[in-house]
Amino acid sequence: MEFKVLAKDGSARYGLLKGTHGVTETPCFMPVGTLGAVKSVTWRDVKEMGYSLVLSNVYHLYLRPGLDILREAGGLHKFVNWDGLILTDSGGFQVFSLGKLMKITEDGIEFRSHIDGSKHFFSPEFVVKFEEEIGVDIGMVLDECTPYPATYEYAKHSMERTVRWALRSLRARTTDKTAIFAIVQGGVYEDLRLKCVELLSPLNFDGFAIGGLSVGEPKKDMYRITRLVAPQLPEDKPRYLMGVGKPEDILEAVSCGVDMFDCVIPTRNARNGTLFTSQGKINIKAAKYKNDFSPVDPECDCYTCRNFSRAYLRHLYVSGEINAAILNTIHNLHFYARLMEKIRESIKSGTFEEFKRAFMEKISSSQ
Ligand code: GUN
Ligand code: ZN
Repeated sequence: MEFKVLAKDGSARYGLLKGTHGVTETPCFMPVGTLGAVKSVTWRDVKEMGYSLVLSNVYHLYLRPGLDILREAGGLHKFVNWDGLILTDSGGFQVFSLGKLMKITEDGIEFRSHIDGSKHFFSPEFVVKFEEEIGVDIGMVLDECTPYPATYEYAKHSMERTVRWALRSLRARTTDKTAIFAIVQGGVYEDLRLKCVELLSPLNFDGFAIGGLSVGEPKKDMYRITRLVAPQLPEDKPRYLMGVGKPEDILEAVSCGVDMFDCVIPTRNARNGTLFTSQGKINIKAAKYKNDFSPVDPECDCYTCRNFSRAYLRHLYVSGEINAAILNTIHNLHFYARLMEKIRESIKSGTFEEFKRAFMEKISSSQ
């Protein structure tokens, strides 16, 4: 993997990230394709919206379809027929949030499948091996996402274990075709976060993520930790803020020097009828859209906005028609792709802070 910062505006960075299956400009947003597909849209849509890097997940892919099928298919890219970049999260976070965690020990995590209750075990070594075998461009190390709230002692031990697991993950590597990113933990405790950065930074990772945020802590804590951690991470490596976020959170983190993001918000909101617009969010279910024949966002040039009205989208939504999920997801993912594009352009032209201020004013004045 190669990464180059090509422009800076304050702490915000514009860069290029090149992996085995292509290139993405940064800052970038990764649509979530947990089960090997971005929900409600085709890979053709994903590509047409301008995405070249998507996120998937070891926990889900390991349980279904499983390593044997993915191996037989010739890897994850071939199985799903996506020829762009793929990053996989390691599964630790999903075990905590979805499956039934049985036991976390120094060796790894024992858990029960959320599908059939069967028992499984992930070690840091196994996760790296799995990511290499399915051939993803970027694999995240196995970590423990410290819950919120957590005591100082708990967060400390959990951070220290995450660092030991990161070291084991590096030692387990067998190829440079799959880049490996470490994850900074430490909860909301500043000294633990800084210690974690100090321990991980000198190691030979291809990139660094900030984990354990957006897990229920107040927004001011998320911003405080991001502002503290991001600038301390190695300048020449990509920085990824996991599970974030809303447009305003992304803008805030970009201003701290974060390069990569992922979140279910645009896709999940789309399926719930919440649509992002240049004037703030709207809910397409609302009765006032019954006879509103204007597009979702007059400033948007996505397939949905070029062809369909709010009234029609509301009708599809209240009728439970599958097209509602499809058309809404196309709009929201297009909105996020354009947002990231405008962020990159503004960094290149040295106008990021103005762009950020104008964007925030526009979405807040209408809500
Ligand atoms: N996704 C959101 N937060 C986290 C985290 O802390 N760890 C991992 N592995 N994935 C995440
Ligand atoms: Zn649109």
